[in-house]
Formats: sequence, structure tokens, C-alpha cells
Amino acid sequence: MVVFLIGFMGSGKSTIGRALAAKLGWKFIDMDAEIEKQCAMTVAEIFDTHGEPFFRKKEREVLEQLAGSDKIIVATGGGVAVQEGNMEIMNKAGLTIYLMLTPRNLLKRVERSPDKRPLVRGKSSEELLAFIEERLPEREEYYRRAKATIDCDGAGMEYLLQHAENLIINYDTIF
Ligand code: S3P
Repeated sequence: MVVFLIGFMGSGKSTIGRALAAKLGWKFIDMDAEIEKQCAMTVAEIFDTHGEPFFRKKEREVLEQLAGSDKIIVATGGGVAVQEGNMEIMNKAGLTIYLMLTPRNLLKRVERSPDKRPLVRGKSSEELLAFIEERLPEREEYYRRAKATIDCDGAGMEYLLQHAENLIINYDTIF
């Protein structure tokens, strides 16, 4: 089975994904890192050189490559779930988990590393919060199609890992 972690920038997909994979002894793939490897460029460089539509096409390509894998945790980029058809691919391939956080909590985390994220580069805190508050409801329409949602506000790492692990272990009975 493939487990796809989805959610907005800063929701902890990579951090939780890496820890979860280590706990289960599964492989971990960060989609942004995989795209960077395949394109030999950073995500910011891909946006600057080839534009966002090229990046979105590449995301779809990598998603299709990963969909046939087994025992793998995938941290998707925040925009993957939003591209038409991608939620269907992921829901067909395995378990999708939406890591849900409020805009204010997302802001705190995105602010820690804004430069690697081309969509939020150069924004002040106020602008960033406005951006998240505008985009999150649009994107949630897609994120909410995930098979499971974990409310991550105020949750510690141990709880999150346990919750995600339970969903995986009991997948056949729950879904
Ligand atoms: C994006 C999120 C980023 C990265 C790219 C676009 C988005 O990934 O894929 O900058 O559209 O939300 P993270 O969610 O890992 O920051």
C-alpha cells in the first residue's frame, strides 16, 4: 500500500512522513525532493525557469510513478491534491491522510522556511496569513476528499504517529 500525506504548506507532511516511515520500516518519499532530483533543480528554480504548469505536470508524472509502489509513505507537495485527477489517483492507489491545521498554525510553520516555497516568497507575515486564509478554503475542497483526516492543531508528534499508524494497520477494517 502507498500512504499519501496531503495538506497545505507547513502542515508537517515531510516531518511526519519521515518519522512514520521509520516507525513502520517503510520507504519514505518526499515528492518535492523527488522532483528536484529528477529535474536536477530546486523547486524554486523549476518555477523560475519552466513555470508553474511545468512543475504541476512533473508532479503528476511522479505521482503516477509512485502509485504502483508498496510499503511507502509519500509526502505530497501542498498543491498536488488540488490538480484535477490527482486525488482520484491517490485514493485508488492507497490511503490518503489530510493533515489539517488552522491558518495561524500553518503560518507559524511556513514562516520558518519561506524561501524554498516560490508561492510565498517575499511575503510579510500579514500577507502570508492573508494568502493562507484565502487559499486554504479553496484547497480544502480537495484535501477533504482524503480517506482520513487528522486534526493536527495542538497535537504532539507521538499522537500523530500513533493515529496514522492505527489507520494503516487497520486499513482493511476501516476503509
Ligand atoms: C506548493 C507546495 C510546496 C511545493 C511548491 C508548491 C503548493 O510543497 O510543492 O512550492 O502549491 O502548495 P510543501 O507543501 O511541501 O511546502
